[in-house]
This record gives sequence, structure tokens and C-alpha cells, in this order.
Amino acid sequence: MCGIIGYTGPLEAKTILLGGLSSLEYRGYDSAGIALFQSQTLTSHTVELIKTTGKVSLLKELCDSTPLLPSGCGIGHTRWATHGGVTTENSHPHQVGRVTLVHNGIIENYKTLAETWNFSKQLRSETDTEIAACLINQFYENDPIQAIRKALPYFEGSYAFCILFCDHPGEIYAVRKISPLVAAYTPSGSLAASDLTALLPYTKQYFVLPEQSIAKLTPYRITIFDENGDKIQPELLTVNWSMDAAMKNGFPHFMLKEIHEQPQALRNTILPRIVDELPNFDSDQIPDSAFVHVNKIQIVACGTAMYAGMVSKSLFESMLKIPVTVSIASEFRYEDPLIDENTLVIIISQSGETIDTLAALRLAKEKGSVTLSIVNVKGSTIARESDYVFYTHAGPEIAVASTKAYSVQLAALYLIACRMALACGKMTLEEGKHFLQELLCAIPAIDMVLTKKEEIRHAVSHLTSVDNAFFIGRGRDYAFSLEGALKLKEISYIHAEAYAAGELKHGTIALITDQVPVIAIATQEAVYTKMISNIREVKARGAFVILITKESASIEEGIADIHMTIPNLDDSFTVFPIAVILQLIAYYTSVKKGLNVDQPRNLAKSVTVE
Ligand code: F6R
Repeated sequence: MCGIIGYTGPLEAKTILLGGLSSLEYRGYDSAGIALFQSQTLTSHTVELIKTTGKVSLLKELCDSTPLLPSGCGIGHTRWATHGGVTTENSHPHQVGRVTLVHNGIIENYKTLAETWNFSKQLRSETDTEIAACLINQFYENDPIQAIRKALPYFEGSYAFCILFCDHPGEIYAVRKISPLVAAYTPSGSLAASDLTALLPYTKQYFVLPEQSIAKLTPYRITIFDENGDKIQPELLTVNWSMDAAMKNGFPHFMLKEIHEQPQALRNTILPRIVDELPNFDSDQIPDSAFVHVNKIQIVACGTAMYAGMVSKSLFESMLKIPVTVSIASEFRYEDPLIDENTLVIIISQSGETIDTLAALRLAKEKGSVTLSIVNVKGSTIARESDYVFYTHAGPEIAVASTKAYSVQLAALYLIACRMALACGKMTLEEGKHFLQELLCAIPAIDMVLTKKEEIRHAVSHLTSVDNAFFIGRGRDYAFSLEGALKLKEISYIHAEAYAAGELKHGTIALITDQVPVIAIATQEAVYTKMISNIREVKARGAFVILITKESASIEEGIADIHMTIPNLDDSFTVFPIAVILQLIAYYTSVKKGLNVDQPRNLAKSVTVE
């Protein structure tokens, strides 16, 4: 939540910051701002703030109409409001005395700090961030590192800061705790940002700023100081994403592009891990010894990632014959979970930075469990803190609504289930090979669904005028429905709920009235006839039924208003094409309603605050 960036170098900072903020905008889009050094003479410097509510495009217009001197150094911010409403005063950067800063995170004890240090008179905003600027300014006696070092112990919560001191032109100071910050020195100058997408135009080599160290960025180098003031060398990482991966490439929205990228993302995630027709995690450095003692699996994640976990629950249980619990990270972290050293805790996170998921990981480690994270962003905090990491190779996911990350998370879970079953002697090599072949068949099935997208676009016409929609399914189909409902509500603002179809009669069926849309998923053979009975029940009460089945399913006349099909896959693998249909239903509904598909209201991509 919130994107921050800093640039110092030979190029025009304003252009670089605005470009970077555009790529970070998915992290928050309530307001945006930049601060630039302005040097009137060699010895006279000021830091100019330009900020506004609204999108980065508005900030660009404001910058164009503001007279500015050329500047090679500045910082920028795109906001997802936490403390204080969406106003220009609350937008970042915040300036107090000689200090100007941008912040991603929350200073939880900001009120106490304001009272203790008597800052209230100098405040112009309602934000926690301004208090941080006050405190750093309070300690500032011409030595930026000393001032930051003195202030840090007072801050409770999470932060990534980029800080300017007006008498240190051309320099940016950066520091973080929990909130992400990556940085790179490039021939075009030095950059720091909340995530890689902002650095991609300039470099493929970057580093994650170690927590509590302070980075000093100048046009010529980045120097990092640890807590003792000693210089440290960060570990350089290389990203294999290209700039294309972070652009729309002719698609009207990132979401549609990312939906289309799923077959390739699955191939990138699965194929490098197949050796002798079986899953192999040698290159991930995940040994079978991590699996053999496991008598329980605990999956923890948020949102879409958690729903991927829910899909995998029955797969793990049927293949391994051990109990699997799936928990919402924000709940799990405050529970006293029944996990121990024989529990494998699987943490799922696209960003690798979700604060609740990170806290859940830390709790699992405290309890002595083995932790294995499924993460898309290389070098992210969750990846670094887990015992083992399985990187998905989806490339950058820019649309706020997760699509390709969900598919590759599923693929990761399926590969892990298979490898575990083999390692624990619950599956023969032949069965393992067969399982992988079935998994790979899901990829052409997705291609097939994508060829039918016009059909799906027409099918959603009925949804554009409704306030409520229901998704129903049994068994795994119910788990798929949860994700379908989340997708629809988050980008089309239709109240959508998923129900296990057999539960309808226990209350919810009271909401089924004339023309209420019910998206019914019926791909699980064992419960197919039960599911058809449930569909009949809603149809009899006037529901507008969109039914999704396998091609081979025989459908009686009149049971559905719209019938869509997926190729005939084994029941365990139908989630892949089903996910794509559900994503396209949500996508086209949002487009037809004229909504902002990629940046839905109130949301942000990476949830780094509680
Ligand atoms: C919904 C969505 C969210 C994320 C959730 C977890 O489309 O994207 O529900 O899945 O915020 O995010 P990560 O996977 O980054 O931990």
C-alpha cells in the first residue's frame, strides 16, 4: 500500500519520478506527490513540493503547470490513505523544517509521539507520516544519518522512507522496517522504490534494502550503513522480467493482458521443475526431507492466495491422507494455532509483502514449524524469511485483481502435493507422471477458454444491471466459486457471494428471486447430480442461471439461461479453465459498467498495512 520512489542522477528527476509513480500506482491511487531539489545558486537550495489528490495523471498536469528549475534529485509518493482522509495536505511528501520525506507503512504510535514531543502546533496534516518527519527534523543537526538513526527507535509499526535534507542537495536517504524497498545504482543514476516495476526501465540488477540499515543515494553510488555505521554490501539480485512484462502491450487493461498470460505463466512455473517427467525441486533447494516427517499441513494466506490454498486442500488430503487446514492470515496471526515441528506451513503470497501473511509466517516459525512459501516477487520479505521458497514465475502482476498469480499459485500447490506424495511413498512414479501430464493438459484447456472470450463477453450482459450475484458449487467447485465471487465484487462492485450449493436451503435461498444471477459451477463428477438438483431449486425460484460444466456434461433443457463449457479434464484440474472463465466474467462486467478495471476503488495491490 502506497508506492514510494527516489531518484538522484544526471537525468530530469521530475520525469523519472512521474514515470516511476505511474508504474507504482497500483499500490495506491488516492493522491500523489513529488518533492524536488531546486538549486537557485551553488549554495542556495530548497525542496519544492507538488502534490494533489487523485491520480498520477493529475499530478503530471500539475507539474507541467508549475514553474520548476531543472532538478536531478527528488522523491515521490502515490497514496492509499490510512491515517487522515484523501486531501492535498495529507498527501506525501511531508516537509518539516529541513526534512522532506515519503513513507509507505504505518507509524502506529504517532499520537503518543506527537504528544510526547509536543508536535501538534507544527502539524499541517492528519497523517502518522508527518510525525516521523517532525521527529527526524527534531534530531537533525546537519548529519542526516545521525538524525535518522536517533529517530528510528521511537517508531513503532512499519515503514519505508525516502528522505531529503534540504542542505544535502543531490542526496536521498532511505530506510525500511517491514515495508518493502528495493534500490539500484545504474548508469542513469541511483534509484530506490517500493517495487521493481519502477526500476525496470533502468536496470535488471537491484537489491532489497536490508532492514534497519540506512542507504545514502547520490548520483554516483549508493552506500549502505548498518546499525553500527559500518558500510555493508547488499546482495545483488537479477530480475528476468522485461519492460514488456510491465506494459499493456496492446491490451486495453493489465487485467486482460494478465488473464491471457496465464498459459505462459503456467509453463514458466511448471516446466523448469519437471525432470524425468516428475516434479523436481532441486533448483529450488527444497529437499524431500522437508516433507517426510510432516503429519499436518497448514496453509495461510489472504484473499485470492488463500482461495488458491482452499482449492488445494482436498487435493493434499486425498493424495497424502493427512489433515490440511487453510487459514486467513489476519486471523491466524492472532490465534494460538495447533501447529508444531511436524507441521508444514505453506504461506502463499504473490507480493511476498502482505503484512498479515508475513506475521503468520513469523508465528509459524516461532512454533517451530517448517515454512514453505509460494511467492511471485523475488527477494520479497516472505521469500527471504521462509525456510523454503517456491517462486512462481508469473512475471509482474500489475492489475489489482489477481489473475495469473492465482493460477501459478495453484500450479505450485499441485506440484508440491505431487512431490510430497512421491517423497512420502503415497504415490508411485507412474502415478506421479500421470498426475503431471494431467496438470499440463490444463494449459491448452485455458487456451481453449480464451478463444471463447467473446461468448463470455456477451454472457455477462445480464450482470451489468444487478446489485447481487451468487456463485454456487459443491466440493472443489465451491472453492472455485469463492474466488469467482471475490473477482466479481472487487472490480464490478456487485455484491457477490459464494455458497456451497447444498447450504442454500439453510437460509440463503431466501435471496433468490426473479432474475437474480446465479453462476453455478458443476465440474465435479461425484457431486454432479446433487449439484444439478440445487440448480433446479434456484431456477424454480426465478434465478438467471449461468451454468459452467465440462463439455461432456449432459444438460437438461431449461436448466440454465446460459451454458458455458470447459474441456473434459480430470476433476482435480478443472480449476484452471474455470478460473479463467470466472476472471473473464468479472472483467467484462467491469468493462461494461465503465469501471476502472485495473484500479478498483478503495483497493491497492500490495497490502502492507494491517
Ligand atoms: C484479489 C487480490 C487479493 C490478494 C491478497 C493477497 O484479487 O489480489 O485478494 O490475493 O491481497 O495478496 P498477496 O498474494 O500479495 O499476499
